[in-house]
Amino acid sequence: MIILSIDTSCDETSVAITEGRKVIANVIYSQILLHKKWGGVVPSIAKRAHEEKIDFVINETLKKIFWWPVSGSFPPMLASKKAVAARRRTPSSLDTQKIFDRINYLAVTQGPGLAVALEVGIKKAKELAEKYNKKLIAINHMEGHIYSCFGQNRQGNPKKEFRFPYLALLVSGGHTELVIFRNHLQYKIIGETIDDAAGEALDKAAKMLGLGYPGGPVIERLATQVNNKDFYHFPRPMLKSKDLNFSFSGLKTSFYYFLNRTDSVFKKNQPRTESVKKLSSSFQEAVFDTLIKKTERAIKLTKINNLVVGGGVIANHRLRKLLRDLAKRHHGRVLFPPFKYLTGDNAAMIGVAAFYKAKKGQFVKNINKLDRIPRLKLTS
Ligand code: KG4
Ligand code: ZN
Repeated sequence: MIILSIDTSCDETSVAITEGRKVIANVIYSQILLHKKWGGVVPSIAKRAHEEKIDFVINETLKKIFWWPVSGSFPPMLASKKAVAARRRTPSSLDTQKIFDRINYLAVTQGPGLAVALEVGIKKAKELAEKYNKKLIAINHMEGHIYSCFGQNRQGNPKKEFRFPYLALLVSGGHTELVIFRNHLQYKIIGETIDDAAGEALDKAAKMLGLGYPGGPVIERLATQVNNKDFYHFPRPMLKSKDLNFSFSGLKTSFYYFLNRTDSVFKKNQPRTESVKKLSSSFQEAVFDTLIKKTERAIKLTKINNLVVGGGVIANHRLRKLLRDLAKRHHGRVLFPPFKYLTGDNAAMIGVAAFYKAKKGQFVKNINKLDRIPRLKLTS
């Protein structure tokens, strides 16, 4: 089953072609450079960039599979020199039609995300569904992040099978969620942030330190240079509460006052001193310690020690180590997205989730009525 999927939920325009769990092609146009100078995602800029780039990204995705024979099965493993050269050409409308003849379904992210950004992807998916007469599958972006752990390369690796139930931890710039993933397409949120997401907290701390946007990767780099030590022990919010919810805004505020109190040398555009490294590392530890302790509580409560984790922050090596240690302590396992591009936003994960929806016949009933749901929640 071959699916073309689109994700425009935030600041990445992404299109993918998947066959079951195999990712045949995945193209991401990142808008980071456009938003960088504003220190965060600006909705109007995101919308315009998605509109300007979506056709280009679709074309680039089609080009990646262009050299495959139009008859026969997807995918031949080796391309001849001639085929590789042909691949660089933009597909003509005739080629495009042939490729779409082989695509079974279209999938698109319906939410959660930025309304004006989601709209661009949905509009394009509707256009393609009409033009090529395809059924459409609407996907929750967060279920995409869960299924990202099961993506495979073109050869079908890694082969890991599903072993339900899973406890899913999703950590991105917009979300921090603990979810019971009981079976395919069955989700129950058992914990979520009541204010900022973990990635957002890292981004804001980085901004206060004058480190630019997005903050997560820079903070990771600086923290590594001081061995991820916790020098200042910032507060771990919500750890005393009995539930599984997160809150990061108190931590952010206490970080802000700490910087002011210490009459900081940490103001914008200062060289990256040792202190900035220590602050980055301590802040990161506070965020990750909170994530780990809440996840540990969830393991104890649900008795599920089989973890799947997804979202941009999961790219972080320190967090990965802490998660592996956590799973080990509870004699369980943790599954990460097998390739780096599957951690941040991408359409491939949308295609993988769509495969399971298509198998259950869950298609959009009235395509004209499909609308974005910026605060869409995971439900069964
Ligand atoms: O999943 P994602 O690409 O987009 C959303 O759906 O939000 O996540 C983006 C978030 C940003 O907050 C970014 O700072 C964070 O992921 N991030 C990281 C790392 N790479 C990206 N955080 C910590 N360490 C990283 N290596
Ligand atoms: Zn995301």
